[in-house]
Amino acid sequence: MKNKLKIGIIGLGTVGCGVVKVLSRFDDIEIVSAAVKNLTKKRDVEVQTITNNPMDIVTNPEIDVVVEVAGGCEILEALKVAVQNKKHIVTANKELLARHGAELFDLARENQVAILYEAAVAGGIPIILPIKTSLAANKFSFVAGILNGTTNYILTKMEQENLSYEDCLAKAQKLGYAETDPTGDVEGFDAMYKIAILANIVFGKRIDVNKIYREGITHITSNDIKLADELGYKIKLIAQASELESGELDIRVHPMLISKENTISDVNNATNAVMLKGFPVDKVLFVGPGAGEFPTASSVVGDILSIKSEFDKTGEILPMTTCHHSVYANQIEIEKTQNCYYLSIVAGNNLGTIGKIGSACAEFGINLSSIIQKGINEDNKASIIVITEKSSEADMNKMVEKLENENDIKVINKIRVMQ
Ligand SMILES: NC(=O)c1ccc[n+]([C@@H]2O[C@H](COP(=O)([O-])OP(=O)(O)OC[C@H]3O[C@@H](n4cnc5c(N)ncnc54)[C@H](OP(=O)(O)O)[C@@H]3O)[C@@H](O)[C@H]2O)c1
Repeated sequence: MKNKLKIGIIGLGTVGCGVVKVLSRFDDIEIVSAAVKNLTKKRDVEVQTITNNPMDIVTNPEIDVVVEVAGGCEILEALKVAVQNKKHIVTANKELLARHGAELFDLARENQVAILYEAAVAGGIPIILPIKTSLAANKFSFVAGILNGTTNYILTKMEQENLSYEDCLAKAQKLGYAETDPTGDVEGFDAMYKIAILANIVFGKRIDVNKIYREGITHITSNDIKLADELGYKIKLIAQASELESGELDIRVHPMLISKENTISDVNNATNAVMLKGFPVDKVLFVGPGAGEFPTASSVVGDILSIKSEFDKTGEILPMTTCHHSVYANQIEIEKTQNCYYLSIVAGNNLGTIGKIGSACAEFGINLSSIIQKGINEDNKASIIVITEKSSEADMNKMVEKLENENDIKVINKIRVMQ
């Protein structure tokens, strides 16, 4: 056994600096070198050697483990070279794994190296290793989560302070919870990458990230949040994957109304949560910090220590954590899914409007759970809220189209309701 495990880090940003700080507590791990983009940038950590070329790290014969905390997909080629050079990988890069995981894991298997990624899905919440080890006895039917801290923060502030989406986004940007370009978070891309990774390990199949239905939170209004609250719900951005009886997978990311009786509705601000349902364990819920310098470093350093514990072993290391599946899942389109819906409708203050909504629902076989008229506003329009029982997305879309063709009826928002 070597005395020290030698590490090379690609990226010294939020997570990379956290990793360097946490690793300073471990005498038996040495950071040999780090790669960054901008060599002149001031950083609050020091590393022996810094380069602006990731290839220097992945080809350095002294380095045993490459820690990739740079982000994005342009780092793929460097990581492939690292694997070919028999270096183990620890990464926090959800986008890279969701888009190119299959290729990278195949290469890792060929080269008998480990790729660990505990930080990629829920930051500081341990979820990958528990699914692969402690929960290995289970057949899972469902996984869902609040996997994006930025959107959860925005929705929480909209609810608690009765502010608009735009005001809460500005607040999140000021506090560093949202980036200047927030698209990746608010349009659901970040949560989509994470649910792709989770579905992959929970259902043991490869996932095509391009087939995941994705909808962000930019269309959610403070009025929706207020009305949902009055009906006993909160609105959260949910990423979920379930296995149907046919064996197909239903994987999507979109906002949902969640009953206040469901524990996940209490997961607020930037906190993340992952729910799993499987046999024999039944339902389990993991809650904690989904991002941030130290929570994320906790997961990255945990992975480094796992590799260290088996380092120098001959053959496959950490066999329970290795990705062995190669078959792609059969993923269904959103039109084929079954959901309950919340509809927020604005209509002229005319006789028979509620009747028209009722008959449009009946025409497409959609049962109403409740329909409430919220009075008449200043411009003589009625605000109507509908909650439906389960129906197909395709039928719901046809029904909404029919209502939109009625004079003076406008469907402002359609949000799915968690069962
Ligand atoms: N932030 C979190 O809380 C969090 C949580 C979970 C997972 N993650 C994931 O962790 C990764 C890093 O996130 P972060 O927030 O630490 O990002 P960040 O603060 O933007 O830092 C990225 C670092 O990577 C360096 N870098 C970028 N491209 C590079 C390249 N081609 N070659 C060399 N260095 C490069 C940057 O160099 P410069 O400093 O010179 O620009 C910077 O030091 C991402 O995959 C992210 O999704 C982050």
